[in-house]
Amino acid sequence: MTSLTSSKSAALSGTLKVPGDKSISHRSLILGGLAIGRTAVSGLLEGEDVLATAAAMRALGASVNRLDDGTWEVFGRGIGTLDEPEDVLDLGNSGTAARLLMGLVAGHPINAVFTGDASLRRRPMGRVITPLSQIGAAFHGRAGGRLPLCVEGATDPLPIRYTLPVASAQVKSAILLAGLNTPGETTVIEPEKTRDHTETMFRHFGADVRVEDLPEGRVITLTGQPEFKASDIVVPADPSSAAFPAVAALITPDSDITLPAVGLNPLRFGVFETLIEMGADIEISNRRIEAGEPIGDIRVRSSALKGIEVPAERAPSMIDEYPILSVAAAFAEGATIMRGVGELRVKESDRLGAMARGLAATGVRVEEGEDTLAVTGSSNGVAGGATIAADLDHRIAMSFLVLGMGAQAPVAIDDARTIDTSFPGFADLMRGAGAKINSGAVT
Ligand code: S3P
Repeated sequence: MTSLTSSKSAALSGTLKVPGDKSISHRSLILGGLAIGRTAVSGLLEGEDVLATAAAMRALGASVNRLDDGTWEVFGRGIGTLDEPEDVLDLGNSGTAARLLMGLVAGHPINAVFTGDASLRRRPMGRVITPLSQIGAAFHGRAGGRLPLCVEGATDPLPIRYTLPVASAQVKSAILLAGLNTPGETTVIEPEKTRDHTETMFRHFGADVRVEDLPEGRVITLTGQPEFKASDIVVPADPSSAAFPAVAALITPDSDITLPAVGLNPLRFGVFETLIEMGADIEISNRRIEAGEPIGDIRVRSSALKGIEVPAERAPSMIDEYPILSVAAAFAEGATIMRGVGELRVKESDRLGAMARGLAATGVRVEEGEDTLAVTGSSNGVAGGATIAADLDHRIAMSFLVLGMGAQAPVAIDDARTIDTSFPGFADLMRGAGAKINSGAVT
C-alpha cells in the first residue's frame, strides 16, 4: 500500500495540463485497431486503464505502438478480422475496457476470456450480456454475470434494436461495437442521453451513424460492416480529471488556475454546470473542435460556494464527478442534494457508501439514501483528520486528497496506486500548483 496525505494548501496557481480523456482514449485504440492503415493518436491517456485496452487490442491482432514523441500509432486489418487471443484478457480496473471489448468480441467469431482486478470482478456485466446474447454471442461467467467470463462471439451476428434499461454509455458502446461486424442496421435507443464519443468517433472513421431525437429517446442507428478509414485523433484533456484541480482551486483561497484544452462535450460537462450554479468562478475561452469533439481552456478562481439541488436528469452528464462534487459541497454554505445517483453503487467501488463514510469521518454532515446523497457544508470549513480507504477507486482517492487541501487537519488515503488508472502524475501536478501532498500516512 502506498499512502498519501494532503494538508491545508496555499493558493494554487498556474496552468495545469490534465491528461487525456479516458473514454476517448479507449475508443481511439479500439477503432484505430479496426481501421486498415495507420491511425496516429496524440494526447492519449497513458493511464493503466487505457494501457489495458492497448494490450487487449494487440492480443486481438492490432498493432499498437508508442513513438518517442508520445504519439501512439495503431494499425488494424479491418472489421471482421480479429484474432482469437491466445491468453486471458486482463482489463485491470477498467469497466469501460471490459464492456466495450466484450461488445467487440461478441460480434466476431472468436472466443475470449475476460478478467480484471478485485474491483472489476465484483462489477455487474449482465447489462452487456443481455443485449449481446440477442446478437448471438454466448457467455459463461461467474454467478451474477461477474468476471472472469468467457465470451463466445457470434458466427452470424444479428442486428438488434435495443432500449437501454440503464443510462450507460458503456452498454450503448458495447452494442454498437458488436454492430460493426453485423450486417444490416443495429439500433440503440437511450431514454436518457449518455456520452456520445462512440457515435462521434464512428463517424470520424467513416461509418454511417444516424441519430434521431424521438419521444422514446435518442435513437442511434448504425449501418453494419462499414469500411473504417484510418483517421488521426487528438485526445482532449479529460473533463472528469480536470474536475479535481478545479474543485481544489475553488476551495483553496486566492487560487487562480487554467486547465488548457479540456473536452467540453455537453454530455460530459454537468459538473462544471453544477459548480457554476453553486457560485463557482469558471471561465471558458478558446473554444474549438478536434476530431468532432468541442474543447476549450477552463480558468478557475477560488469562490464562495452555496449548496444546491442537483437534478437526477443531470446524472449521466456527470456520473463520474459526484465524488469530487461532494467535496465541493462540503465547503459550500448549506445543503447540496444529489438525486438519481444509484448507479454510483456499481462503479469502481460503491461510491455513495465510500463518500458518505469518508465525509462523515472528516467531520462533514452527510445523509446517504438508496439513490441520493445530501451533503451539508459550511463556509467555516471541514475538520479533516482521518485516513480514508480508497477501496481500489481512483476517484475516491483523488477526492479525499482534494478535501485534505482545504481541511483544518490533514487527510490521508491508504492506497494511492489506483490513481494511475486515470490520472498518472496527479500528486506531482497538484504539488506543482501549490498543493501540500506528501507520501505516507497522517502522523
Ligand atoms: C464511460 C461511461 C460511464 C463512466 C465511465 C466511462 C465510457 O460508465 O462511468 O467512467 O467511457 O463509456 P457507464 O456507461 O457504466 O455509466
